[in-house]
Amino acid sequence: MRGVAIACVAVFVGCQSTADPPLAPPADGRGTRSTHHVASPSTDPIATPPTDPIAASTVLAADPASIARGRAAFDRLECARCHTHEGASVEASRDCAGCHRAIHEGTYTREGVTTEMATDFRAHVHHLVEVPRLDHLDGWLSREWVTRFLLAPHDVRPALEETMPALPMSEDVAVDLAAFLVPSAAREPERSIADDDAAIERGRAHAERLGCPSCHGFGTLWATPADGPALAPDLAHARVRLQRDAIVGFLLDPSAARPGTAMPRLVLDETTAREIAAFLVHAPLEEPAPMAPFARLPPLTRDVTFEEIEERVLRRSCWHCHADESLAYGDGGPGNTGGFGFAPREVDLSSYTHVMSGALDREGQHVSLFREIDGEPALLRVLLARHDEVRGVIDPDVRGMPLGLPPLDAEQIQLIESWIAQGRPR
Ligand code: HEC
Ligand code: HEC
Ligand code: HEC
Ligand code: HEC
Repeated sequence: MRGVAIACVAVFVGCQSTADPPLAPPADGRGTRSTHHVASPSTDPIATPPTDPIAASTVLAADPASIARGRAAFDRLECARCHTHEGASVEASRDCAGCHRAIHEGTYTREGVTTEMATDFRAHVHHLVEVPRLDHLDGWLSREWVTRFLLAPHDVRPALEETMPALPMSEDVAVDLAAFLVPSAAREPERSIADDDAAIERGRAHAERLGCPSCHGFGTLWATPADGPALAPDLAHARVRLQRDAIVGFLLDPSAARPGTAMPRLVLDETTAREIAAFLVHAPLEEPAPMAPFARLPPLTRDVTFEEIEERVLRRSCWHCHADESLAYGDGGPGNTGGFGFAPREVDLSSYTHVMSGALDREGQHVSLFREIDGEPALLRVLLARHDEVRGVIDPDVRGMPLGLPPLDAEQIQLIESWIAQGRPR
């Protein structure tokens, strides 16, 4: 998602030090210092409480019982509906990314779907086509980073419009999932990654000469290229996200290090790779400028009908997760009949009658979609909450909609707001 950086602020602050934070707990057994603080206002690593349970649980090889629980959670929370993983599969009718990819590749077939319909589908499906694979993460991603990311996802790939949604999970479940994805002990931090200014500067020169900025953003140093590959991460996260010891080998031969990777092999020798690694891990980064809050447009004075809401918003962005189950393989989607670990909320946005008939709240009580939350009708509140989320402002009581997808634009929100203000005509 483009321009989303606030959630990473904590990553930038405190990452300008030249010393590698230890990944192994200090010998005095006080637990390890955290390399980053996703939700903590503290910028002083020393001030971190000595026994941070996530950091402490993510240094050693994972406990087999935790890996097994993580495997089960991976199935229960249906991670494979979006992500490929060698150990998990999902029915074709529930495979969000698999079906969307098949539509793009022209291999989607279903009884009653004509060639014209398939062409139409392809023109309408934009999201959940490219999603990072979750295999071969062991020895690559930091287990601590994965745990914190699952609990408070932030944007990693600015060129990818989708983000990882915040799914309903406790800290224990996040620890288990990360143990399943990254079971081995953390590698030693790469001691031979130089941190002197001269090496960092040479690394920057190599990286620019080799064309890394044509695919990657790098915090405030390089803007994400508009036409770069969607799956290329912003390199500012590499220093906390990756096991540092794996970086040099990956740069020398990406597909040997991570089979199936979309990162091309560039011609470079080991000294060059080390200097680039020094640049990636130690280049000073500035805090990104905060994003401006979302600006609402004044309500429309003309009449707005439900048909227009349906066509311009609900069908386009909501329907797949809030479907009529009788039309969608018996699955009303995660926002209706439940899924991704969410309980059924019975929010069916597929017709006027269903929108008017309300939903269940998190306690299972029947409620209206137009009840007030923080002074706004619920339907509008969730759309505004998505704008807050991309600015890094997360409200645990209100999940932004559309879940994990780009927020609606100002005109779409104006349309919904005007329709509600006009008494929600048919
Ligand atoms: C609705 C689709 C969706 C579901 C369901 C989903 N994810 Fe994701 N996930 C994404 C997207 C999109 C990204 C990439 C986000 C980015 O790069 O900013 C992502 C990123 C990740 C990453 C980071 C991988 C990397 O290489 O950066 C991990 C780890 C992850 N997801 C784990 C999970 C787990 C575990 C589950 C199940 C509990 C899960 N995801 C469910 C969409 C999903
Ligand atoms: C069996 C195939 C299939 C499955 C499974 C599927 N979709 Fe779709 N999806 C489609 C088609 C076809 C469209 C386009 C419909 C149209 O023409 O309006 C679509 C459209 C969408 C759209 C709107 C277009 C866009 O790309 O933004 C979203 C969002 C979406 N799907 C999300 C999901 C999610 C989330 C899941 C899993 C919970 C899912 N889909 C599962 C086939 C599928
Ligand atoms: C043609 C586009 C392209 C070029 C050029 C390119 N990369 Fe990549 N890079 C990618 C893609 C795509 C990925 C994601 C691969 C994956 O997830 O498997 C990636 C992944 C990475 C990663 C892993 C980051 C993470 O957080 O997971 C690093 C580090 C990296 N590239 C560094 C570099 C450096 C340094 C250069 C220049 C020497 C470079 N790349 C040049 C496309 C490119
Ligand atoms: C990727 C799937 C997905 C998409 C796309 C999606 N939703 Fe949701 N929606 C959910 C899930 C899951 C929940 C339940 C969340 C929870 O229980 O915290 C939900 C809940 C809701 C609620 C209930 C909030 C309440 O407390 O009353 C509303 C309203 C809603 N969605 C509206 C929308 C609208 C409008 C769109 C399109 C602009 C949309 N959703 C798109 C998955 C989705």
